[in-house]
Amino acid sequence: MKNANRRRRAGRDTFSSSFGVLVALAGSAVGLGNLWRFPYLVGQNGGAAFIVIYLMFVVLLGLPILFSEFIIGRRSQASAKAAFQALAPGEKWGIAGILAVLCCTLILSFYSVVGGWGVEYLYKSVCLDLTRGDSDHLANLFSSFASSTWRPLVCHTVFLAATAGIVISGVKNGIEKFSKVMMPLLFIIMIAIAVRSLTLPGGGEGVSYLFKPDWSKVTSSTFLAALGQAFFSLSLGSGMVITYASYVKKDANILSLGAQTAASDTVFALIAGCAIMPAVFAFGISPGEGPGLVFITLPYIFGQLPLGEFIAILFFLALLLAALTSSISIMEVIVAFVMEEFHVKRRTSVLIVFLGLWLLGGLCSLSLGILSEWKIFGKTIFDLFDYISANVLMLIGGLIVVIFVGWKLSKQDMRDELTNGETLHVPDWLINFLAFLLRYIAPTAIIIIMVSQMLA
Ligand code: TRP
Repeated sequence: MKNANRRRRAGRDTFSSSFGVLVALAGSAVGLGNLWRFPYLVGQNGGAAFIVIYLMFVVLLGLPILFSEFIIGRRSQASAKAAFQALAPGEKWGIAGILAVLCCTLILSFYSVVGGWGVEYLYKSVCLDLTRGDSDHLANLFSSFASSTWRPLVCHTVFLAATAGIVISGVKNGIEKFSKVMMPLLFIIMIAIAVRSLTLPGGGEGVSYLFKPDWSKVTSSTFLAALGQAFFSLSLGSGMVITYASYVKKDANILSLGAQTAASDTVFALIAGCAIMPAVFAFGISPGEGPGLVFITLPYIFGQLPLGEFIAILFFLALLLAALTSSISIMEVIVAFVMEEFHVKRRTSVLIVFLGLWLLGGLCSLSLGILSEWKIFGKTIFDLFDYISANVLMLIGGLIVVIFVGWKLSKQDMRDELTNGETLHVPDWLINFLAFLLRYIAPTAIIIIMVSQMLA
């Protein structure tokens, strides 16, 4: 232990407790990915079969990658790019860090736009003009809002500024404090909504949609979507876990923190599924609605429920909080990189990053309206950023991470980090199994899925 503490770099901000680390990591993992992206992907990809494939990826690929990123970050005590350089000096691995920063930049650009929708919908639900009207009216309301010019831009600005405001206060006082209060609150709100939805008359069909797999709906793109979602939801392959792990003390237990993070993320995704699908079926709405699912169907559903106005406020509040604990983690990757590469203060870095993201996010927002004709590879800027980050860059990032930890670091290094220099007991078979997954299974699976998608 003493030895381990000596290795920690002086003056670096850290999380104050392991509960603090856990909520920050879980806060990063649980976000729009769970509440917005997961339900609509489940709906587009046929329900339970997608969920089963998703869970398989979380366990067999997600967890090993999460542990690997943890090892890289905590061992090096550095941000995404510098971490690789510290562990393999003079080699080209730092490129993975640059890709990660690029990936986070693309993600936060569209993430902040969707976060902005959350701001608008929270506002609308407080003004009580959400839960009136039929589903066509709500679909129009959403599409005319999302494709308009000014309002979404203003909301994106508010969301991004809130994110920057938390990141500017640093790791312990900003990120950790915020997450510690918000995550438990989010959990309670989501459970309450799920219970309401599950007990709706006619909700049973939604439950079987979620839990009874229909394998005839599975295609190769189901696998890519499930893998991309596992990466997105666990915030993998994008330097986030590396960056947060670099603020983790040397006596924290990596295996248990990683497993708890993945477990909380999965539980939240399933709760979000249970909150949304039974209600979607009970009111005869199509589950394949797409990105608008949460914003169109839920208000309609709330409108049909006693105390619906109140539930709507709770839900959009939860969505916003979840989005914020994630957006701060995405911004932190970029901010830590800028601070360390250009030797600037946290404040300056946050300001630069804020301005850059504000512009890119603005483009994403406008690409749903006046810029919708600007297409690159047949996709709007918004869809392109989403697709390239979750289905390309994060996968490449994850691939580099598993190759790095599986082949470049020695098994002894891995053992040393996982056992905190032999102070924790971790059985040999577990380390061997993990090394096997990292060396052979994970790279092969990622490559097969990426290639089959390119050929499709
Ligand atoms: N996992 C978050 C979610 O589900 C999104 C997220 C947070 C993220 N940090 C990330 C995605 C870093 C990619 C990279 O909403």
